[in-house]
Amino acid sequence: MSSTLGKKLLMALTGLFLVIFLVVHLSGNLQLLLNDEGRAFNVYAKFMTTNPLIKTTSFILYAAFIVHIIWAIILTVNNKKARPVGYAKTSASTNSTWSSRNMGILGTIIFIFLVIHLKNFWYVMHWGPIDMVKYEGQEYRDLYATVDMAFSQLWYVVLYVVAMLGLMFHLYHGFSSAFQTLGLNHVKYNPVIKFVGVAFAIIVPAMFAAIPVIIYFKNF
Ligand code: HEM
Repeated sequence: MSSTLGKKLLMALTGLFLVIFLVVHLSGNLQLLLNDEGRAFNVYAKFMTTNPLIKTTSFILYAAFIVHIIWAIILTVNNKKARPVGYAKTSASTNSTWSSRNMGILGTIIFIFLVIHLKNFWYVMHWGPIDMVKYEGQEYRDLYATVDMAFSQLWYVVLYVVAMLGLMFHLYHGFSSAFQTLGLNHVKYNPVIKFVGVAFAIIVPAMFAAIPVIIYFKNF
């Protein structure tokens, strides 16, 4: 019991750290929409992949992702063992939300998205192949061109939109679950916490999803 609580605690803490990453990542990615042929985004991407402090934080980020995913699998397997027949269908929908019962599926969609995403953007940024551009005599990797080309393909845009819908439901349940695990639910502040959680779960994935859609139609 206590070890389940420990795992849940780690899920909540890594989850909240990943939420902070999402905000930083979204603000950086929004520069893709500036009308500057990718200059601001490429300068930002170089800074994010070469600054020593950010590089160190990146390793904490990778660790947070790995712990969050592995602990999720362990918790799901343990829950299944504890309740091999599952909930009766009728009581499940009255006692819990669709998102909470499908965290495993939603997490899997996000995981598949992440593998494709990291292979095509993160790997290419670090190890190429990638074109170079020069701004004021300084060389930069043209990550903007890589992203722009990827989002010119419809299947890629659809993948991002579907994954971001998955992220929406995942965050919707994740927030309330994390606050409950951390004991941050309070009668007076509950409605505010719930509102902030729901707003975040909708707005952030919607803005992520808008980026490939806007780039696709710009290049259409
Ligand atoms: C429109 C949506 C998105 C775009 C355009 C985008 C773009 C990029 C690009 C260009 C990189 C490589 C450059 C870098 O390392 O900073 C990257 C890295 C990364 N992305 Fe995304 N991303 C999007 C959504 C997401 C989402 C929703 C997640 C998580 C659920 C995510 C997770 C990551 C991670 C973990 C990295 C590696 C970061 C690091 O090395 O520090 N991305 N993304």
